[in-house]
Formats: sequence, C-alpha cells, structure tokens
Amino acid sequence: MDHAADVYKTDLMTVTRHVLNEQSKYPESRGDFSILLSHIVLGCKFVCSAVNKAGLAKLIGLAGETNVQAIRVTGHFDLQGEEQKKLDVLSNEVFVKALISSGRTSILVSEEDEEAIFVEPSKRGRYCVVFDPLDGSSNIDCGVSIGTIFGIYIINDGGDPTLDDVLKPGKNMVAAGYCMYGSSCTFVLSTGSGVNGFTLDPSLGEFILTHPDIKIPNKGKIYSVNEGNAKNWDGPTAKYVESCKFPKDGSSPKSLRYIGSMVADVHRTLLYGGIFLYPADKKSPSGKLRVLYEVFPMSFLMEQAGGQAFTGKQRALDLIPEKIHERSPIFLGSYDDVEEIKALYAAEE
Ligand code: AHG
Ligand code: MN
Ligand code: MN
Ligand code: MN
Repeated sequence: MDHAADVYKTDLMTVTRHVLNEQSKYPESRGDFSILLSHIVLGCKFVCSAVNKAGLAKLIGLAGETNVQAIRVTGHFDLQGEEQKKLDVLSNEVFVKALISSGRTSILVSEEDEEAIFVEPSKRGRYCVVFDPLDGSSNIDCGVSIGTIFGIYIINDGGDPTLDDVLKPGKNMVAAGYCMYGSSCTFVLSTGSGVNGFTLDPSLGEFILTHPDIKIPNKGKIYSVNEGNAKNWDGPTAKYVESCKFPKDGSSPKSLRYIGSMVADVHRTLLYGGIFLYPADKKSPSGKLRVLYEVFPMSFLMEQAGGQAFTGKQRALDLIPEKIHERSPIFLGSYDDVEEIKALYAAEE
C-alpha cells in the first residue's frame, strides 16, 4: 500500500498548470497569458504575506516607521527600506511593478491611481489589466477578510494604447478573478470557461486547485447589503429587501450577511448562493462600487458560475464605461434571486 499517496496528493494542480492546460485549447496563445497570470499570482502572494504581517506590525508598533523587514521579492522588485506604507498603497505598488515587469501589459487601471498607467513601449504586451489592489480596506485594522480584484482585456489591434482599450463592456474581458486574504488565501479565476478556486499552500508557496468548476446555486437563502443605507434606497430595492425579510409566499426569511469587503461578500455568495447588492441611493445615484475593477470582474465570475449580474437597468457586463473610475449600482448572485429584483425594476419602467 503506497502510504505516500495517502498523505501527499501527487497530482498538484497549481494555478499555473491549470491555466497552461486551459491555454493549450488556444494554440494561438504564445504563453503570454500564463506569464501575465504568474505575475498577478506573485502580487497576491506578496499581499497575502503583508496582510498577515500587518496585524503584527500594528501590534509591535512598527507602523509609521521605516519598513525594517526588508521585503525582497525574487527578481522583480525590491521594497527594502521603504517607508512603512498603508497596505493599499503598498499593494498597489507591488501589483503595478509586477504587471509592468511581466512585459505583457500595455495599460494598467488601478483604484489607487487617478490616471491610467501607459506602460513604456519597450515593456508593452497585449493585455490591459484593471484592478483593485486592496478591496475592503476599511476592514484591514480589525483583521476581517480583504482582497484583490482584477479584470483582463486584450488590447485593440494596431496603434498605440489608448483609454479605448479599457473603456469596453465587461463582456469583452478575457479573464477576471480575485484573491481573498482570509482564514486561508483563496484565488478564484475565470478565463471564460467556468470558474475555479485555488487555495494557497504556504508550505509550497503555490495556489492548489481546491474548488474545481464552481457553480453558484440557482437560489440562495442569504441577502447581502448595507442596511444602513435603507432610508436612501429607491422603490424596487426597498421592495426587494422587504421581500427578503417578510416573504409573501410563506417561505422563510433570508438571512442577512454583510462583511463590508466586496471580495468576501461575493466569495460567500458564489459558494453558498444568494444575492449581493450595492444599490444606487439618493446620496450616491451611481452606487459606490467601481465598474472596471469591482463590478465587471465579479459580474464576469458570477455569469461564468451560472449566476447573473444586473445594474438596475441592464446586464452589468453590457455596460460601456466612459470614465475609468466610473461607478454603478450592482445586484449579483444566484440566477433566480437576481431575476426577482429585475422584475421589480422592470415593473417601475
Ligand atoms: P475598497 O476598500 O477597495 O475601497 O472597497 C470597499 C468597497 C467594497 O469592498 C465593499 O463592498 C463596500 O466598499 C462596502 O461599502 P459600505 O461600507 O458603504 O457598505
Ligand atoms: Mn474595492
Ligand atoms: Mn481598494
Ligand atoms: Mn477604496
């Protein structure tokens, strides 16, 4: 009896291997995507490590001093001696440097940078990456799950890169994903043929496939919204949330779960089912979440997992953003749950 096989799975399906398998279906791909992804994964591993230390740093009062632990990340960039930075600024720098050093990107759009970053010609590649380097930053200091969200477009043919390469509907993305820094570090990715989840094995430093082919339940028992905004909601949202709490069909009320980090709320919705809402309200008529690097990637994943994503007016992935930091209301999750709120908005028209 081969005991090793019992203890050690020998067929390690890492993110890189998984993507190489998928990419082999597209002979024209020259491995560029795998190289780009490996740099995104490197950034996530760095942030995972920094997030785990952040609490400690806070405890032993390192915050605000020079970053004494010289964090050297092999090869690409060295943050040694950097002033202790806020985690979202540090994370942003790590992803920007990793993506540029991949030599596979031409434009980067980050929540942390007012302007798009146009990569210098000698380092340009065929991809444009839009990302939220640290999502849920209000939860950093209390140790609640936070994350990174990203979406990937292929640059338009010919000519120098322009904003038109990223001001495209989310349905044009070739890939989207997130990394959640929680009790474990989970990387969830879709390249357009389903959704797969990988968990970081710290002993290997590799993300291993743990959630193959994720499918969201058609209907869920959870709704996820910041009820604190209830007085500012429009009619259909208010009616929908009311129906979650006081169902008219005699079914039991849905449970409310709201973490306040989009990555964590969406990850739970993807695995357990239900609906996540960040509606428009009187104070923020376009809602709060950003189209390019929060709404689109999460909507892409939801559709790939069999769910759907709606803005209150249309399918979220059909939106065409006019500005790189544009916001949109979003209702996403289990197909049947989103259908209910779509019906309420349709009745308003
Ligand atoms: P970020 O930290 O990247 O700015 O994102 C925070 C977002 C999102 O993570 C979450 O769903 C939402 O803010 C929570 O907003 P409220 O605190 O208004 O509910
Ligand atoms: Mn965010
Ligand atoms: Mn952010
Ligand atoms: Mn923010």
